[in-house]
Amino acid sequence: MGVLEKTDTDRSPVSLTGHYTGEVWVRNGLSPSAMSTRTGRNFYRALRPLDGAANRWLGISLETMLVQRHRLIDELVLGFVARHPGAQVLELACGVSDRARRLLDEMGDEVTYIETDLPDMVAHKLAVYQQQGWSGGARHRVAPCNILRERGEISLERVVGELDRERPLMVISEGLLNYFSRATVENFLLRLSALLSEFAENRYVTEIWPRLPHYPGVAARKTMIRLIETLTRQEVPLHFTDNEDIARGFRSAGFAWVRVINPDHYAFTSEVPAMGKPSMFRVVCSGVNECFDCDPETSAP
Ligand SMILES: C[S@@+](CC[C@H](N)C(=O)[O-])C[C@H]1O[C@@H](n2cnc3c(N)ncnc32)[C@H](O)[C@@H]1O
Repeated sequence: MGVLEKTDTDRSPVSLTGHYTGEVWVRNGLSPSAMSTRTGRNFYRALRPLDGAANRWLGISLETMLVQRHRLIDELVLGFVARHPGAQVLELACGVSDRARRLLDEMGDEVTYIETDLPDMVAHKLAVYQQQGWSGGARHRVAPCNILRERGEISLERVVGELDRERPLMVISEGLLNYFSRATVENFLLRLSALLSEFAENRYVTEIWPRLPHYPGVAARKTMIRLIETLTRQEVPLHFTDNEDIARGFRSAGFAWVRVINPDHYAFTSEVPAMGKPSMFRVVCSGVNECFDCDPETSAP
């Protein structure tokens, strides 16, 4: 890559939350301590007592939900790659998560895993890998990608355009969509579905925090969202009402099939912490073409 001319959209206060979730992965044994950053540790220390109290008194824990989310997406990636050993996995907004390295250990030689994020986060991650002397070899790359950019070197279009059309593709993002307006999310989904349609076997896996108007603990949830908004200095809009609304939104953006997975009903293959109250997020597994090999595990509505 040549010298990149960064625009304002190539930096985001949302990157701070990537340091926080990075610390959550470290504390929960999903990432080595080398991935821990001072920013992440500070946020974690500030939020931990609040999250502990919310867990004790209200049965709601952001940390528990984050771990559930991370593990569920791990399982969907591993399931897809097990069925398609030559698959490409493109992770958008990877932050300081160690997922790529962790999962590559469990995947065969034919897989390719591309981690992407905004340029500063990518530079940080590459520096950490370098300090640790880790390289995933030909199976792994880290590249800048700004999902808001439609043209140019770090656009989604360019990054997907460089992938192999003859191989299956799973695109994943975690902790990303809820930071943008609904119009931005819809535009992103439309662009992504058009790009995915060029791959016969394709998936997009992400998570959505729906409004869930009947959620038993609306006040606690509002407080949690305010907290995240304060941290990121930007709004966290809840775009969709419930499972059906999420499915409708994805379908109208060009996805042929959509599975909305409630983690409370998902049969995890590994031990995952449980929350007292029902979960507040959903993992969405979707595809543009017909699903030839849909995993019955994920077919719960
Ligand atoms: C909440 S963090 C999640 C990081 C990681 N997926 C995880 O779960 O630990 C959000 C990530 O989105 C990235 N991000 C923000 N705006 C972005 C954009 N326009 N394009 C790509 N990534 C973006 C941030 O840099 C940050 O790493």
